[in-house]
Amino acid sequence: MSTLWQHEIAESEHRVLNPFTDDRLRLLGEVARIAPGARILDLACGKGEMLCRWAAERGAHGVGVDLSEVFLSAARARAEELRVAERVRFVHGDAGAHRAEPGAFDVVCCIGATWIGGGLAGTLEVMRPALAPGGLLLVGEVFWNETPPPAAYAALGCKPDEFADLAGTLDRFEAAGVELVEMVLADTGDWDRYVASQWWTVHQWLKAHPGDPRAGEMRAFADRARRSHLAYGRRYLGWGVFVLRGEPA
Ligand SMILES: C[S@@+](CC[C@H](N)C(=O)[O-])C[C@H]1O[C@@H](n2cnc3c(N)ncnc32)[C@H](O)[C@@H]1O
Repeated sequence: MSTLWQHEIAESEHRVLNPFTDDRLRLLGEVARIAPGARILDLACGKGEMLCRWAAERGAHGVGVDLSEVFLSAARARAEELRVAERVRFVHGDAGAHRAEPGAFDVVCCIGATWIGGGLAGTLEVMRPALAPGGLLLVGEVFWNETPPPAAYAALGCKPDEFADLAGTLDRFEAAGVELVEMVLADTGDWDRYVASQWWTVHQWLKAHPGDPRAGEMRAFADRARRSHLAYGRRYLGWGVFVLRGEPA
């Protein structure tokens, strides 16, 4: 339904590529008890804001993996800006196929990209081998605030069983053998900041690139995203980061 280059344009002004504010990112670092020296692997790290901020503010270090060279070069620039370039490393590649050193990370994250393992359960399996004993998995995932009307699935580009409500998401964690120990959820205002701020960016891009052969597809992407957010996403879609223990107590 959408391709990487469209996101690279629409989210060119974003630092966090999800419905998450600076304050929630800070709160997540607190509730996940990210400690000085924590080793973090961030699969589908985007512009690396979480890694860079937790390196600067909490003394963590780590590795981010992403498919987008555009986002990775923004991540490296951000690391320089925050003076943490020696603490974080960004690697280009398919995060679903990334083979990290087994057990080498205290925290393994996948924030808003559970398609890398073909869904939530598969992504947890992708994440687990890199996790040190007693470590944490951080998963950013969509959930349903309430059951949407059937037309919402096509409009939002997902399958009916792809996501669950919050209790159903808990069931999925339990079935995967991980324990939910904390969470930080986005609210409707966070969704608006993530989605509505793209409208402005795309409008400016279209004005600046009237003859670009991609303009028609870019406009269609933005029109679809705006309409689906207003018609369905704002009401029915939730999003949050779930903090999980790799093995239940
Ligand atoms: C919704 S964004 C989230 C980015 C980041 N976690 C954040 O919260 O800012 C999804 C990210 O997944 C990346 N991506 C998509 N498919 C991927 C794959 N197979 N392997 C690695 N990265 C991927 C995109 O380039 C994008 O940066």
